[in-house]
Order: sequence, then structure tokens, then C-alpha cells
Amino acid sequence: MNPYVSTISQLLVVSALRTLILMVLISGVVHSGPVHHQKTCGDLQPIKPAAFYNSCSKKYLRVNNKDIVADTDTNNTLFTITVNNSHGFLLFDPIANMFVCWKYNKKTSRLVPKRNPKDISLCIFEELPTDGAYTKYVSTKNRSYVMSFKSNGQQRIGKKSNVKKRSKCQPEAFMRVSKQNGSNCSSTYNDFCERMKRIKRHKVREEIRQLCAIDNSVHRKN
Ligand SMILES: *[C@@H]1O[C@H](CO)[C@@H](O)[C@H](O)[C@H]1NC(C)=O
Ligand SMILES: *[C@@H]1O[C@H](CO)[C@@H](O)[C@H](O)[C@H]1NC(C)=O
Ligand SMILES: *[C@@H]1O[C@H](CO)[C@@H](O)[C@H](O)[C@H]1NC(C)=O
Ligand SMILES: *[C@@H]1O[C@H](CO)[C@@H](O)[C@H](O)[C@H]1NC(C)=O
Ligand SMILES: *[C@@H]1O[C@H](CO)[C@@H](O)[C@H](O)[C@H]1NC(C)=O
Repeated sequence: MNPYVSTISQLLVVSALRTLILMVLISGVVHSGPVHHQKTCGDLQPIKPAAFYNSCSKKYLRVNNKDIVADTDTNNTLFTITVNNSHGFLLFDPIANMFVCWKYNKKTSRLVPKRNPKDISLCIFEELPTDGAYTKYVSTKNRSYVMSFKSNGQQRIGKKSNVKKRSKCQPEAFMRVSKQNGSNCSSTYNDFCERMKRIKRHKVREEIRQLCAIDNSVHRKN
């Protein structure tokens, strides 16, 4: 072989290798940035602290033992948890450590607390506008399940929607009070996901596993 050609091809190989190493280094730097954009503040944040003021009872929503009630004067913080990047969200009370879900039969539907809901589709809410500054909260599974409380703070069950009816008391009307704490945006996410990581992995619902990046490759047995 011609010695010149050999030297040139060696030089080419070396410079190609250098370029390659440089590219790997650069891409390494680029990709080592924050992966969990969801943990940052803003509208894309999937887990947010908020209080829910019910217009009829003039009190805030919470889980109380086996009941969902609107009975506290202070703005009790719940977490809203966006699932599947949709407009639907879960409601979670961090004090009771329970989700708010629907239980229904042919005629009525009521809210019940659940530690780890089997059917997450019954725990997904959406916000619909009502008259004025208020909103109402319905089940995405069946929009005729509407969150509704009486003036004494107990659930109003099995009555037809009366939002259109003009009255002083609006059982289905809520005001959402954002409790976002600007100082640390990831703390709500971390708080919720730490709780979910304490549940046996195979029992955690897929949507929550994804949200909290709980690995499910190890525990696939059931
Ligand atoms: C609700 O909580 C905020 C702080 O998170 C507080 O500033 C505000 O006064 C509270 N409002 C009521 C009605 O308790
Ligand atoms: C979320 O999406 C997955 C598929 O991507 C689907 O199987 C699941 O039912 C969805 N969950 C809800 C609560 O919509
Ligand atoms: C939704 O709930 C109402 C009232 O319980 C019921 O009449 C209706 O059949 C339900 N719709 C679906 C799609 O399940
Ligand atoms: C916001 O952060 C401050 C300081 O860390 C804390 O005292 C306060 O309770 C937080 N408020 C909420 C609503 O989490
Ligand atoms: C935010 O809170 C998390 C715990 O929830 C903590 O690990 C982190 O250091 C905090 N960040 C700041 C900037 O305070």
C-alpha cells in the first residue's frame, strides 16, 4: 500500500473519532438537563394544592372519616392531580391520605373517600363553569354526577341539578382557591408521590405510576 494513502487514512480516522467523541460529550451535556419538567411551576404542573369553597355551606371541602364534607372554616388544602395530560384530575386530601371518588347506583351518586381506588375512572373530575364566579365539579365518567353540598356541609344526594334555579344557596357552586406556594414548586409533587411509593407497587394505578415515575418492571407478578 502507498505509505501516503495509509497516513492520510489514519489521520482521517483519528479526526473522525475526535469529532465523534466531541459529539457524544456535547449531547451528554445537552441531555443531562432537568428531565422532569412536570416538577416545575406553572400550568403544566400536574399536582397542585388548592382549597374548594362551597357556596351553599360557605365552608371548605375535606375528607372526614368515611365522608366527604364541606365543613371547615379554614381553607383546607387538597391536591388536584392531572392524569393522562387531560383536563380531568383526581382530588386527594393529604390530611386523610385519601382520594375523593364516586360511588353510584341506578338512582344516586355520592362522593366517598378511597385510599387506593381500584377504578380510577370514578375518581376523575372536571371543572365546568356556572353562573358568575363559581364553577361546578362533575365526574368525567358521567357528567350527571355533580358535587353538591347542603348548607350544613353534608352531601346533597339524589337530587336533580338546581344550578339554573335561582336561590340564595347554590349547592353545586364552588370557588377554587389556589394554594400554590411560589417558594417551592416541587414540594406538592414530592409529597404526593412519596405517599404513593409507600403503597405496594403492583397496587398503584398505572396513571399514578407514570406520573410519579414509579418503576413497574420489577413488580409485575401481582
Ligand atoms: C386561605 O389561605 C391563605 C394562605 O394559604 C390565607 O392567606 C387566607 O387568609 C386563607 N383564607 C381563609 C378564608 O381562610
Ligand atoms: C389513561 O390512558 C391509558 C392509555 O394511554 C388508558 O388505558 C387509561 O384508561 C387512561 N386513564 C384514564 C383515567 O383516562
Ligand atoms: C349517568 O348517570 C345517570 C344518573 O344516575 C344515569 O341515568 C345515566 O344512565 C348514566 N349514564 C351513563 C352513560 O352511565
Ligand atoms: C408556604 O411556604 C411557607 C414557608 O415555607 C410555609 O410556612 C407555608 O405554610 C406554605 N404555605 C402553603 C399553603 O403551603
Ligand atoms: C423543595 O422541597 C423538596 C421536598 O419536598 C426538597 O427536597 C427541596 O430541597 C426543596 N427545594 C427548595 C429550593 O427549597
